[in-house]
Amino acid sequence: MSSVKWLIRLLLVFFLSHFSFSADTITLDHFIHDNNDEAIVSAGNIFALGFFSPGSSTNRYVGIWYYQIPVKTAVWVANRDNPINDTSGILRIDGRGNLALFQGNQTLPLWSTNISIAGSGNSFAQILDSGNLVLLQNDTGKAILWQSFGHPTNTWLSHMKIGFNLRTGVNQSYTSWKSPDDPGVGNYTFRMNPGVSPQMVLYKGSFPVWRSGTWTGIMWSGIPEMEQTLLFNHYFNDTDGELSFTSDTVNASLITRYVTNETGVTQRILWNAV
Ligand SMILES: *[C@@H]1O[C@H](CO)[C@@H](O)[C@H](O)[C@H]1NC(C)=O
Ligand SMILES: *[C@@H]1O[C@H](CO)[C@@H](O)[C@H](O)[C@H]1NC(C)=O
Ligand SMILES: *[C@@H]1O[C@H](CO)[C@@H](O)[C@H](O)[C@H]1NC(C)=O
Ligand SMILES: *[C@@H]1O[C@H](CO)[C@@H](O)[C@H](O)[C@H]1NC(C)=O
Ligand SMILES: *[C@@H]1O[C@H](CO)[C@@H](O)[C@H](O)[C@H]1NC(C)=O
Ligand SMILES: *[C@@H]1O[C@H](CO)[C@@H](O)[C@H](O)[C@H]1NC(C)=O
Ligand SMILES: *[C@@H]1O[C@H](CO)[C@@H](O)[C@H](O)[C@H]1NC(C)=O
Ligand SMILES: *[C@@H]1O[C@H](CO)[C@@H](O)[C@H](O)[C@H]1NC(C)=O
Ligand SMILES: *[C@@H]1O[C@H](CO)[C@@H](O)[C@H](O)[C@H]1NC(C)=O
Repeated sequence: MSSVKWLIRLLLVFFLSHFSFSADTITLDHFIHDNNDEAIVSAGNIFALGFFSPGSSTNRYVGIWYYQIPVKTAVWVANRDNPINDTSGILRIDGRGNLALFQGNQTLPLWSTNISIAGSGNSFAQILDSGNLVLLQNDTGKAILWQSFGHPTNTWLSHMKIGFNLRTGVNQSYTSWKSPDDPGVGNYTFRMNPGVSPQMVLYKGSFPVWRSGTWTGIMWSGIPEMEQTLLFNHYFNDTDGELSFTSDTVNASLITRYVTNETGVTQRILWNAV
């Protein structure tokens, strides 16, 4: 029984023109406050990070969405299981140098990048045109301390990986929302299984309900559609403790994402940004 459909939907989106300037960083001096409807926007106006309410919910979440699509389409959510019930949320760099979300004047964060940072107080967050939110060390090296691409929710953007790295402990899987109104952790998880023949597996709870088949060198054997499309590049990596898969579009003006939805359907959604 296959509950995964790899569909390609072509959406033509007429992009709106935005001329207002917004910073793309959150620094010690520049935080964002839900009350003022503040957000940060990537340099090329592709992605925004700020507060939103999904579907018909009134709860507030910090998320990343396509800046130029009028309906906020969240591709990542920070506090997915810890919503804020009012508009007092503040996203800022905390005293340890982490990016952290606070409700009003509470001292305990509802969500935080939660890593230990040497020389704290010297970091800042930036939203990139790829949709990756990065926490960077503010020095000449600008080392990435944390990135949202390493902590996926239900959406898989170009260059995001599914899989793991045994050396770094990174383990990236995708979990459905509870409902269109609730981005909380749902029942379906899409992840890479190791073994002699590694494959991508969709789980409902702890039960596997779909498998991709093995990697043939070109595609997953259970997804023959992959061979038919010339729109995407696929990258399978089984090297030195890393086992991962990622993709991008051949033409960068095609924008794509995979979403594992609440009923376990994983869809590839594609549109032409021109
Ligand atoms: C980085 O640090 C310098 C020197 O302290 C400061 O002037 C600058 O505003 C900081 N940049 C960010 C993005 O935090
Ligand atoms: C909103 O959340 C705060 C903090 O969790 C809680 O104290 C308060 O009772 C909640 N308010 C409502 C109307 O649910
Ligand atoms: C925290 O915020 C609440 C609601 O705005 C306010 O009543 C309270 O005085 C504040 N507490 C502090 C310590 O600022
Ligand atoms: C940060 O990590 C610690 C240790 O894993 C955990 O106990 C704590 O709840 C985390 N805090 C947040 C805000 O996620
Ligand atoms: C990745 O995490 C999942 C649980 O989220 C776990 O079942 C799996 O064994 C992990 N994979 C590796 C290689 O650690
Ligand atoms: C998850 O599965 C349980 C058990 O089948 C079910 O009761 C629950 O409604 C499901 N949750 C969602 C969000 O679909
Ligand atoms: C594949 O994984 C190895 C080990 O983590 C890494 O060094 C290499 O850069 C990866 N290759 C690609 C194309 O990402
Ligand atoms: C990418 O797509 C755009 C719009 O469809 C087109 O104008 C452009 O020529 C394409 N570029 C390549 C390298 O195919
Ligand atoms: C999940 O995707 C399928 C296929 O497009 C659709 O029929 C279904 O309504 C979607 N479920 C939700 C909850 O969005």
